[in-house]
Amino acid sequence: MPDKPVLWITRTLSANTMARAQRDYEVIFDPADAPGTADMIIEHSKNVDAIIPCHSEIFSQDVVSALGDRLKIIANHSVGVDHCDLAALESRGIVVTNTPDVLSDATAEIAFLLLLGAARRAIEGDSLVRSGQWTSWSPSFMVGHQVTGKRLGIIGMGKVGQVMARRARGFDMQVHYHNRSQLPPADECGAVFHKSLDTLLPECDFLSLHCPATEATQHIINRETLQKLPSGSILINTARGALVDESALEQAISSGHLAAAGLDCFATEPCGNPILSAHPNVFLLPHIGSATFDTRDAMGYRALDNLDAFFRGETPGDRLV
Ligand code: DGY
Repeated sequence: MPDKPVLWITRTLSANTMARAQRDYEVIFDPADAPGTADMIIEHSKNVDAIIPCHSEIFSQDVVSALGDRLKIIANHSVGVDHCDLAALESRGIVVTNTPDVLSDATAEIAFLLLLGAARRAIEGDSLVRSGQWTSWSPSFMVGHQVTGKRLGIIGMGKVGQVMARRARGFDMQVHYHNRSQLPPADECGAVFHKSLDTLLPECDFLSLHCPATEATQHIINRETLQKLPSGSILINTARGALVDESALEQAISSGHLAAAGLDCFATEPCGNPILSAHPNVFLLPHIGSATFDTRDAMGYRALDNLDAFFRGETPGDRLV
């Protein structure tokens, strides 16, 4: 019986994932569940064949250049890989995989939670009742923005964007999208393609971000693009904090140009943005788009499927480099 490959799992994954990993690999794991620092990544890489990291472990160019020669594969427990310098990893001959598809439903659910909550003032309403300060009612009280029949813009029509478009149909929304390329009609879910943001943004009562964070999409939402949204529109971000210039967003909220925002991702995580948190019309969640029991199992299994394929000598299904 050959020795099992040695696998470092950086964070606490679902119990089912941990059990399967421990059955098939020699697992190194710290139940303290703290993010792996650069030093930890470099140290562990000298003694393991594989790592399952999350987006909390940063494989920068400097870290990658110091990785030990034993490490052969990084099987990410995430669909986003902006924490990995893929070019540097490729040049070191380290295989990298991610977990696409399996978190699309869960992430679209959170995007819709934020969309509805931001539109209908869920945070203000909840605090009023919870704090015991709900003392009167009137037809002019807590009036919000209706979602049904409105226009939803989607930036990034990958798997999550497509689920979002399908869910929007349930609210009779008209969906518009911008993507690097137009999708085949079967995947468009009836949404209208916009080659450029210039034509998409003026069509959005709601704008939901679903593209990866790359050099090209860094601060895709900035002062200029926010101004192209109609006055009174609502921004939703469940993708990555790097997509949004938060000071421009804060200004758009303060001035009333945006009616509200719903954010699950921030430039600084964990923590968020205290200036945005001061606005009751900004609905905030702590990066929990994929955090359901079903999806955590599915992400863990997908990462392990990729590892299993690699150690069988096959190309993992979700190989990126
Ligand atoms: C992802 O998979 O990219 C989610 O943001 C969780 O890391």
